[in-house]
Amino acid sequence: MDKFELVKEAKKARELAYVPYSKFKVGAALLCQDGSVYYGANIENASYPLCMCAERNALYHALMSGKHMEDFVALAVVGDTKEPISPCGACRQVISEIFPRNGHIYLANLNDDILDTTIDDLLPYAFDDSDL
Ligand code: THU
Repeated sequence: MDKFELVKEAKKARELAYVPYSKFKVGAALLCQDGSVYYGANIENASYPLCMCAERNALYHALMSGKHMEDFVALAVVGDTKEPISPCGACRQVISEIFPRNGHIYLANLNDDILDTTIDDLLPYAFDDSDL
């Protein structure tokens, strides 16, 4: 599955977003070695800090289906932005712990402008378990 196909999957996930407050839908699709894809969309709450981003939902969905970091190949994220969407700091921190360093992260918008990047580029000098 190439980056355009995975972004297309993320667009499908985006349609499932629950965003009554921000109205800003985000979708994510996580590709595994065996070809399976796990989906996430942002889910908001009237208690705003409880909102959960699309990226984290996709990663947690995969973990709860028995997948591990070693299974992950690529993560696509898409939103209706001018430039490719930029993941929040919390998601970068979570990605850095449970997504491989060499995994592709495809940041996209609805026009298929895609930035192919890595977690090391998105979160250099990350806090991790070696700091504990
Ligand atoms: N959001 C995501 O789901 N992923 C991102 O990469 C950026 C932000 C969500 C959180 C919230 O539901 C809405 O977008 C506005 O911040």
